[in-house]
Amino acid sequence: MSENASGQIDTVMTEDRLFPPSEEFASKSAIGSMEAYQQLYDEVKADPTAYWDKVAREELHWFKPYDTVLEWNNPLAKWFIGGRTNVSYNCLDAHLDTERRNKAAIIFEGEPGDIRTLTYQQLHREVCKFANVLKGLGVKQGDVVSIYMPMTPELLIAMQACARIGAVHSVIFAGFSAEAIADRNNDASAKIQLTADAAWRRGKQLPLKEVVDEALAKSPTVEKCIVLRRVGNEVSMQEGRDCWWHDLMDEASADCPAEPLDSEAPLFILYTSGSTGKPKGIKHTTAGYILWAKKTFEWVFDYRDEDIFWCTADCGWITGHSYVAYGPLAAGATVMMYEGAPNWPADDRFWDIIERHKVNILYTAPTAIRAFIKWGDGHVDKHDLSSLRLLGTVGEGINPEAWMWYHEKIGGERCPIVDTWWQTETGGIMMSPLPGAIPTKPGSCTKPLPGVIPSIVDEELQEVPQNHGGMLCVAQPWPGMLRGIWGDDERFKEQYWTKVPGKYLTGDNARTDDDGYYWIMGRIDDVINVSGHRLSTIEVESALVSHDTVAEAAAVGRPDEIKGQAIAVFVTIKGDAQPTDELRKELRLHVRKEIGALAQPDDIRFTGALPKTRSGKIMRRLLRDIASGTEQAGQDTSTLEDYSVLAKLRDDEE
Ligand code: PRX
Repeated sequence: MSENASGQIDTVMTEDRLFPPSEEFASKSAIGSMEAYQQLYDEVKADPTAYWDKVAREELHWFKPYDTVLEWNNPLAKWFIGGRTNVSYNCLDAHLDTERRNKAAIIFEGEPGDIRTLTYQQLHREVCKFANVLKGLGVKQGDVVSIYMPMTPELLIAMQACARIGAVHSVIFAGFSAEAIADRNNDASAKIQLTADAAWRRGKQLPLKEVVDEALAKSPTVEKCIVLRRVGNEVSMQEGRDCWWHDLMDEASADCPAEPLDSEAPLFILYTSGSTGKPKGIKHTTAGYILWAKKTFEWVFDYRDEDIFWCTADCGWITGHSYVAYGPLAAGATVMMYEGAPNWPADDRFWDIIERHKVNILYTAPTAIRAFIKWGDGHVDKHDLSSLRLLGTVGEGINPEAWMWYHEKIGGERCPIVDTWWQTETGGIMMSPLPGAIPTKPGSCTKPLPGVIPSIVDEELQEVPQNHGGMLCVAQPWPGMLRGIWGDDERFKEQYWTKVPGKYLTGDNARTDDDGYYWIMGRIDDVINVSGHRLSTIEVESALVSHDTVAEAAAVGRPDEIKGQAIAVFVTIKGDAQPTDELRKELRLHVRKEIGALAQPDDIRFTGALPKTRSGKIMRRLLRDIASGTEQAGQDTSTLEDYSVLAKLRDDEE
C-alpha cells in the first residue's frame, strides 16, 4: 500500500498479465509497433497544429478551406476557423466517386429477425430525401430536432439528414420517460420531434408514440412530429401536428446537396446525466468532431475495408453517435446495426448475429460482458465466432476477470481487446490500446491516443507520481472536445475548468503504472475514504469479481465513526452459487487476500441485480444512500433503468 499525500488515491491492485498483439495482427496494422505509436504520439505532441492541419486537409472535404487551425481561449476552443464543410458529405458523398459506393454502409437486423442492407448510394439517397422532408417542414440551419426512435436505419438517416442541412439533433434514448423527453425538449427549444409508433424490445412493443404524446403536451416549442411506422400498432395522430414518415418520404425529392457549414456550426446536443442536478446538454460542433470520430475509429479499430464493424451501443448514447452514425461512415466502413436486446429470443442473440453476418470487430460494454458471463458459457459455445479479429469495450472500467473471459471465450485468445476510455464530452476515444502496437493489460486503457495529453493531479494541483491515483485531466485541447453545455456557459466553466485551472477536468480518477499505462479508478465522487486512505471503487469490485461465484459487484462508502468510511459492497452471484453467511465470510477473506485488510468490505449484501443507468453504468450514488440508510428524496433517479431493483434493495436491507 502506498503512502497517502495531498489527497492522492491509494492503489491496491496489481496486474502483471501482458498480452502483446500477435505478429500476424501487428504486421497487417497501420500502426504496427510500440515505436510507431510513440513516434506518432511524439509528433503530434510536438506540433499539434501542424499535425491536425495536415490530417484535416487529407481526411475531410472542404467547401471552403479554413484560415486558422486552432484558437484556444481557455475554456473555449475553435478548430479549423473560417472553413466550411459538412459532416454528412464526409460520411456519404465522399464515397460516391469511389469503389465504396456499392459497398454496404449498414447491415441492419431488427429484433424480430428482419434484415436490411443499405449501400452507401442507397443510404445517401435516403438521407437526401429525409433532409428534404425536414426542409419541407420548415427546419432551418440551427433548429433543434429531437429524436426519440428505435435503433433502426431511420434513426441514423435522421441524424445524417440533420447534419446535411445544419439542423442540430438531440437524440434521446428510446427508453427515457415522457418527463425526461419534455425536459430535454424544453432545454433545447426543440422545433421538431421524430419518433416511431413503437419499438421492439424483448419481443414486446415499447409504445414510443404514446410516450411522445405525453412529452409533447409539455413541450411547447415542438411544432411537428414525424412518426415512423416500425411495429404497426395503433397510434393516435394529432391533426396538424403529426405526420407519417412514409407519407412525407413518398413525396420527397432525392436531390439535396449538403449545406456548406461553418467548422464550428453545432452538430448535435447530447444530454448526459450529471451526478446531481438536471441533465446537461453537451454540445459538439462540425469539423473537429467528425475529424476526431473518423481518426479515432481508424486508429483504435485498425479498420480494414473488408471488415464488418459492430458497435452494440444505441444511437441514443455518445458511443452510438461517434462509432455507429459518424466515425465508421466517414471512414467508409460497413456497420452492423442491431435493434433489440441481447437476450431475445435467447441469451445467445449476439453470438448468433456474429456467426450469421461474420462480424469482424465487436465493440460493447462491460455491463453486457458481465451479463454474458452470468448467463453461462453454453450460449457462446454453440456458435462459431472465428470471424472476430478484434474486440472492444467502453462505458465503465472492465474488471480484469471479465476481461479475461472476453479474451478467452469470445476472442478465442487471438483477438486483441481495446479498452477505450472516453466520455460524452470528449466526442471520441481518448485512451485505448492501438491493437497492432500496444500490448494490453486486463483492466487498463493503456495509453493516450495521439493528440491527447493526460495529466493526473492531486488536490494541490500537483502532478502525482506513478502508482498514485489522482484527478484525471486533459492538458491540451483536442479536435473532438465539447464546445460547451447548451445554454449554460457558467455550468460548463464551473464543472470542467475551475477546480484545476487551465485543464479539462474529466471527473474520473486515474493512475499510471510502472510502464506508464493508465488505469481509470472510477468517478471522483465515488472514492471511498477508509481511515484516511482513499480507495477506488473499481479495485475493490475487481477483487470481488475475481472470486468464482461473483458475477458483478459495486463498492461504496458509508459513514463509520471510527474509520471515517466503511466499505459496503453489493454483490450479484452467478446462477449456481448460494447467498450464505459462509460465502460472505469467504468473500471478505478473498478481498483481504487479493488487495489487503484495509479494503476488506464491512458489509456485504447479495442482490439479484444492481441499479444501473439506462446505458448500463452502476449507480453507486444510489447504493451509497442505501448503504448509509439515508433517504432517497432529492436523488435524481431519472436515468435509472429498472426501478424495481431499487425497491428490492431497500427491502433487503439488513
Ligand atoms: O467514468 C468514465 C466511464 O464513463 C464515463 C463517461 O460516460 P459517458 O459520458 O456516458 O460516455 C460513455 C461512453 C464513452 C467516464 O468518465 N468510462 C467510460 N469508458 C471507460 C470508463 N471507465 C473506465 N474505463 C473505460 N474504458
